[in-house]
Amino acid sequence: MTKNETGSEIGVGVVGCGRVAQQRHLPLLGELGGARLVAVSDTDAGTRDKLAGQYGLKGVYEDYRDLISDDAVGAVMIAAPTQFHAEVGVAALQAGKHLMIEKPVTLSLDELDQLEAAEAASGKVVVVAMNSRWHRLTREAREVVRRGTLGPIGLVRSAFTDDSRLDGQARPWMLQHEMAGCVLVETAVHHFDLWQFILETEVEDIYARMLDPMTANERAAVTATLANGVIVSAMFTEGLKGANELEIYGQDGRLRMSVYDFDGLDITPRSEYPGSMGTRIRRLKESLLSFPGAVKRLRSGGDWAGSYRNEWEHFIDCIVNKKRPESGLPEGRRALQVGLAAMASLAQGARVRVADAPRGILPFTG
Ligand SMILES: NC(=O)c1ccc[n+]([C@@H]2O[C@H](COP(=O)([O-])OP(=O)(O)OC[C@H]3O[C@@H](n4cnc5c(N)ncnc54)[C@H](O)[C@@H]3O)[C@@H](O)[C@H]2O)c1
Repeated sequence: MTKNETGSEIGVGVVGCGRVAQQRHLPLLGELGGARLVAVSDTDAGTRDKLAGQYGLKGVYEDYRDLISDDAVGAVMIAAPTQFHAEVGVAALQAGKHLMIEKPVTLSLDELDQLEAAEAASGKVVVVAMNSRWHRLTREAREVVRRGTLGPIGLVRSAFTDDSRLDGQARPWMLQHEMAGCVLVETAVHHFDLWQFILETEVEDIYARMLDPMTANERAAVTATLANGVIVSAMFTEGLKGANELEIYGQDGRLRMSVYDFDGLDITPRSEYPGSMGTRIRRLKESLLSFPGAVKRLRSGGDWAGSYRNEWEHFIDCIVNKKRPESGLPEGRRALQVGLAAMASLAQGARVRVADAPRGILPFTG
């Protein structure tokens, strides 16, 4: 078991205990070595009562400032709506707590500047929770690209869709661009980060189109140019059936990554015809061979759940071993800037360079 500086487990307090906290973070905190849940804060009384009973916690607070001043809390996780990330994060760092912040890190570069100043003054660890980075297949895809297996890469196709706004599931804050930043900030930042992380480059410019903004049916299509000359075509929504996929096209092969599938990484080399019998047999064989490993991982929730576990283990490792996080405020900034540029593109109806992105959300009403 990993221990913190004083040899004991790190006490974690979670601020904002809605969907992602209850589905992902809180259950994990009971299984991790090196950290344990000691406190929660939520403005909703029903949520507080439920969690107090479920986790047998003494530290249950309405006001996040009370959680931050709890001596048992050594690290704060922020899973409140995005508009609160900076305020809570700065307060936590000023109180000397380590910090994990859900993506998107903030909604503006001014808020991000405040967080960076607080981080520098505190010397504490800050991780931006872009969990897709810690997915098993993301790491494999990055290695494939790094090894040059695909040859020179020219195109990327990416899609992140889910149905979390259907059937009235959308929380009101998510439908307001000023509060959530639309699907281009709320959802797409995962993929903006993945393009840059997997291909080890940066997004240079972006053009976005959106229909039905601020509704459950809001959907966006995007084209972007990366600094290494790759063109990306992408689509995002929270109102259609879920997919989380990336395809990378190189001269020597095509990589397909579908992170919800246990056998979701496939490389078709240039020598193979995609629909041939040989290709199908190879895929079937690879799928069958990966099945026992998948069953083992499914017992602990599967690869998607594993991405959150890996992110927590990384956070604990950074605290205990005083390491620089792989996904800190600079990486959160790069992903957010692409989102801000994409939103500016909607408002201006033109391609926007990420370097010229506005410092905050430009709302788009269609
Ligand atoms: N990494 C991921 O996979 C992922 C997935 C979903 C959401 N998120 C991010 O996590 C954050 C929360 O999203 P969600 O879907 O869980 O939202 P949610 O609306 O379901 O939950 C937010 C919770 O915060 C509480 N809250 C609101 N203001 C608060 C405050 N000032 N102090 C304490 N609690 C407060 C609400 O009562 C609610 O319970 C957002 O930033 C979102 O972008 C990340």
